[in-house]
Amino acid sequence: MTISASTDHIQILDTTLRDGEQTPGVSFSFDERIKIAQQLERWGVDVIEAGFPASSPGSFESVKAISQILTQTAVSGLARCVKKDIDAVYEATKHAAMPRIHVFVATSPIHLEAKLKLTQEEVLATIHEHVTYARNYFDIVQFSPEDATRTELDFLVKCVQTAVDAGASVINIPDTVGFTYPSEYGNIFRVLQESINTDREIVYSAHCHDDLGLAVANSMAAIENGANRIEGTINGIGERAGNTALEEVVLGLHVRQDHYKRTSRIKLKETKQTSDLISRYAGLRVPKNKAIVGQNAFSHESGIHQDGVLKNPETYEIMTPQLVGVKSTELPLGKLSGKHAFKDKLKNLGYDISPDEQAILFKQFKSIADKKKSITDRDIHALILGSEHELNAPYQVEQLQVQFVSNGLQSAVVLIKDKDGHTYKDSSIGSGSIVAIYNAVDRIFNQTTELLDYSIDAVTEGTDSQAEVHVHLKVNHTEATGVGIDHDILLASAKAYVEAHAKAGVEINEQKGVSS
Ligand code: KIV
Ligand code: ZN
Repeated sequence: MTISASTDHIQILDTTLRDGEQTPGVSFSFDERIKIAQQLERWGVDVIEAGFPASSPGSFESVKAISQILTQTAVSGLARCVKKDIDAVYEATKHAAMPRIHVFVATSPIHLEAKLKLTQEEVLATIHEHVTYARNYFDIVQFSPEDATRTELDFLVKCVQTAVDAGASVINIPDTVGFTYPSEYGNIFRVLQESINTDREIVYSAHCHDDLGLAVANSMAAIENGANRIEGTINGIGERAGNTALEEVVLGLHVRQDHYKRTSRIKLKETKQTSDLISRYAGLRVPKNKAIVGQNAFSHESGIHQDGVLKNPETYEIMTPQLVGVKSTELPLGKLSGKHAFKDKLKNLGYDISPDEQAILFKQFKSIADKKKSITDRDIHALILGSEHELNAPYQVEQLQVQFVSNGLQSAVVLIKDKDGHTYKDSSIGSGSIVAIYNAVDRIFNQTTELLDYSIDAVTEGTDSQAEVHVHLKVNHTEATGVGIDHDILLASAKAYVEAHAKAGVEINEQKGVSS
């Protein structure tokens, strides 16, 4: 019989930087990874799964850097049951305040037969060998039987018992393909706690995917059945339909404390900020109706609802927007707002920005204020995220010239500047202005690009709103996303397209560009 973790605290493991980055088209840069990890620490997660160090030098280096920077949060790295993977996690996390490892191997019949070509006995042996090996380096070893929910329950119990006997103290149960449903998933946790023999305290952890839209419900069922840890990502990003949306889990625990009687250490007020940051860096817009962090999550449209909320917000609001950091009473800035008002606004919105960067941002703010009557908090967030991005971007759209004729081909001239100040220019025609711009950019990068998705949204309401363009493209066999924000739709479209090219890792061949 297991002694389960006694506390009423539910641990939160964020895997945005590992499982979340497996979203098609999403690839975080080194700087973005550091900023995400710092924001996750501010949000209050217990563990950050920072990457899969053996998978690439980039992943190794960012796990290493994150391990050196974070002080309050455990940093974990993923490893297959392969010794060099475990060595890589050790090397990458050895300077962390709280280093952790997550070792996994698939256990379901389909994975054993089709993928690993291993018998059940061989899998048990590999679990024993590699968890034992990982324990040489780490006090706390997490083990996951991949595709656990399609593994025969009695064999799953054997796998977990083997891992526990070899020294694992965190057992994670991945619903790898998003196949299970709440009562079935909850039952796995109950059976494990009843069957596993140990006198050590074991943390049982839930890791769900959202293929049937049940990831959060399954995670909550795991909590009802004794899980002490939930794994997931911000905004639920991840492969296919994504992972458990952690913001939904922590708010579920908070709002229905009466039922779950468990708490997380998450600072709920940092939730919106965290979601916005991931959305921006991933290049994935949060759907307006998304629970907790969507733009409409706290809007009331119907007259009956509005009337009720005015009389008492609790008639239709089970939580306040302020609880998750959405400011409802924002004081917009305008053309006449000065440096001090701007500085105060940045501070109120929680930004800690150096005076030099503030000066650059203030100039950009003034240029927006010339075109837009009222600058809302959403404009400021967009400005900061956009500018941060542009400052670090390898390529920027320097100039854009578009000639529009009705009933004819459009033409565009694009000038791109790289980090060293070289400029590259080309022109093209197209059936529409954006096609013409994109053809010109393709000529500059000397690439043929497949545009997989293009969408445009207004940052705020009103005809003077800034445009936010998201693109998802495939270039040089790599998928990438890009975001562009500008008052002008064509410039926003060009910025998004160039950013996606840079994120896909394509470079401008200097021979082709016009360098000055
Ligand atoms: O979903 C999954 O099975 C995983 C494992 C690596 C734990 O992410
Ligand atoms: Zn996963």
